[in-house]
Amino acid sequence: MMMKVAQSAQVPIHSTRLSATAPQPSVVRQRQCVQTRSTAEMSLQSPSRTPKPVEQSEVPKTPFEQLQELLARNAPKAFKGAENLTLQGNYAPVQNEIYVQGLPVVEGVLPREINGMYMRNGPNPLHTPYGSHHVFEGDGMVHAVRIKDGCANYCNTYVDTYKLDMERKAGRPLWAKFADIEGPIGVGIALLELAKMQTGIIDASKGNGTANTNLEYHAGRLMALMEGDMPYQLYVSPEGVVRTVKRMDLGESWREPTDHFTAHPKYESATGNMHFFSYDIMTPQLKLGTLDPQGRLSYSLKVDLPGPSMIHDVAITPNYKAFFHCPLVFDPTVGFTGMQGDPKEPRMPC
Ligand SMILES: [Fe+2]
Repeated sequence: MMMKVAQSAQVPIHSTRLSATAPQPSVVRQRQCVQTRSTAEMSLQSPSRTPKPVEQSEVPKTPFEQLQELLARNAPKAFKGAENLTLQGNYAPVQNEIYVQGLPVVEGVLPREINGMYMRNGPNPLHTPYGSHHVFEGDGMVHAVRIKDGCANYCNTYVDTYKLDMERKAGRPLWAKFADIEGPIGVGIALLELAKMQTGIIDASKGNGTANTNLEYHAGRLMALMEGDMPYQLYVSPEGVVRTVKRMDLGESWREPTDHFTAHPKYESATGNMHFFSYDIMTPQLKLGTLDPQGRLSYSLKVDLPGPSMIHDVAITPNYKAFFHCPLVFDPTVGFTGMQGDPKEPRMPC
């Protein structure tokens, strides 16, 4: 079957957004679909969330930020933000966050036996970057279609990460892009980023992730994942409204600055455990973790590595966890100097 989202049902991204308490009447379009729950019932089940109206340029630019922007704008880049192929055409970011009930079915029928939800997550930058842009850096946006009783509802929403909240308030990008960390100008941009953290402009303890890579469900929690940060827990209403609940905290033993959460954890059906891991681009270390069936951190282990490397995935068996530790290691000097290094000892920029 085919469904479509009516254009008139869309609302601007910075309008009073869909609160977690109930969908706004102005964005609801109803057809003949049966509504099984009232909006009042939804509000009782929704997480508390204070709408954050945006005031453009609410936050004044600091000298660090001004200089960083100047460097990023003037860096000789092959793919500057607005001209970047990953920001154009079919790849262009979606500009609206909407919730629509009763999608028109333009071909075929929705079988009433279907009761479920299709969801996807992916990068969707809120702001056009000053300098370069890598597709990995876009803010996470979740799209979801809830199908039930022959009716389909659609919702798309940003994952409200710490980074997104800060940049939404500011009305501009606040974090440097890793695509800009190259050559002598990149050295300056990186040092200014450190200065922003040291002076509290950016709170590094709250993470800088975009939650843009994957969605996983475990122990009653739906998680938006990106391997450079902790998961963000999402809420889904029975009618398919999706909202961010919070950045997850696994307790004292998983709170070091280098503790992250892979975007590709593995579920072990025999035990109900979820296995995950963390790596860091500056620390030669792999950290393994297990969430028990109740979602509690039940196991953690640090493993020293010869060098900091990108470890993207893991395979599990009944007795082992298998990681690929590739010889290509992170080295910040490669990004700063543009040198590729010795092919026998491959290195990549952080
Ligand atoms: Fe991946």
